[in-house]
Amino acid sequence: MAEKVEALRRGEVPIHEPGLAELVQRNAERLHFTLEMREVLEPARLLFCCVDTPPTVSGDADLSHVHSVVDDLGDSTEHALVMKSTVPVGTGRAVSRRRAAIGYAANPEFLKEGNAVDDFMRPDRVVIGVDESANSVLGDRVEALYRPLEAEFVRTDVASAEMIKLASNAFLATKISFINEIANVSEEVGADVAEVARGMGLDDRIGPQFLRPGIGYGGSCFPKDVSALKQLAGNSGYHFQLLTSVIEVNEMQKRRTIGKLQRHLGSLVGREIALLGLAFKPDTDDVREATSLVLAGRLQGEGARVRAYDPVAGPAARDALGEARVCDSALEALDGADAAVLVTEWPEFAELDWEGEVRRRMATPLVVDGRNFLDAGRLRAAGFSYEGVGR
Ligand code: UGA
Repeated sequence: MAEKVEALRRGEVPIHEPGLAELVQRNAERLHFTLEMREVLEPARLLFCCVDTPPTVSGDADLSHVHSVVDDLGDSTEHALVMKSTVPVGTGRAVSRRRAAIGYAANPEFLKEGNAVDDFMRPDRVVIGVDESANSVLGDRVEALYRPLEAEFVRTDVASAEMIKLASNAFLATKISFINEIANVSEEVGADVAEVARGMGLDDRIGPQFLRPGIGYGGSCFPKDVSALKQLAGNSGYHFQLLTSVIEVNEMQKRRTIGKLQRHLGSLVGREIALLGLAFKPDTDDVREATSLVLAGRLQGEGARVRAYDPVAGPAARDALGEARVCDSALEALDGADAAVLVTEWPEFAELDWEGEVRRRMATPLVVDGRNFLDAGRLRAAGFSYEGVGR
């Protein structure tokens, strides 16, 4: 952590997030990075809590970082905690019980990795939850901070604000699992899921977003938040049946690629499989809950040899990849490969010379496109066997 703070002081942002470094540099004079709580408490009155809440073994959210922030706050009557971290419903109430003197507002974030700066500047909505017992002036103060963004404000109670966050992520994950199942059925009955999603998405009530089928959702948010909401429901005595299926469909989806490879190659023992992309989505180096890691593990379990390439996430993934080889370029990964599996839709993969260099280098011209990202017609015309998702 100390190293990260040092890097930030130098104006370097130690994560891959488009536009963030420029933002930090532009505002360098107004930003102060420190590991000392008292240096924060002295000048500031609104304290935004943005620590992570990773999943525990049980699927509940691990709140230890939130608790340590709360412990460090003391009992000031002058400060208010604004919770941006994603927390289970009930956290605000529990914090307020422990630190009655401190004001509390729930202010969940809806930023997508890789697009976080833009999402922050142009939010669909800003949700602010304060409890009636607390001073509603606190809600006004938080709202005033966001007013320049001209966003739609949702003012509500703390528990509802907490639920809006979890329900939004769970709903988006549900949309993805739904379209993935439609894709799987489409493969059986000869429909093209891209056409189906387009036709569905034009209905305003459905909307076109998050209807891209693929090899399962990953990242530090959806898997964690869907489980957290399911556990939260379970802990309160309600079995959230739909989310149980959403999770199961996602797990199955990650593994379907293996079957597709086996259909073409038979046994995978000794086969060389190239994974194109490791990050859970493009424009980030994040490999938390990335499908690439599950795939690499399953492929190695089947006896295949895995080589992988990602333009930025190689170092982050290396430890979790076991025996797999992390390559310095897509061509190195594809050299002599029996199949290429496109895991992350980085633009550079579409720009490869598939007809020429790639075709010459691969031992077997087989492409499993986990994101329907490549031009199927072009690849087939170049002699590749091409398998997409749901088409
Ligand atoms: C997600 C939400 O989109 C944000 O609103 C939220 O703030 C964030 O979680 C969070 O809770 O912090 P993020 O995880 O960064 O954002 O990324 P998404 O763009 O939502 O993608 C998540 C996963 O779903 C990726 O693996 C992506 O490939 C997959 N996905 C997304 C699909 O498979 N199909 C789609 O149509 C869309």
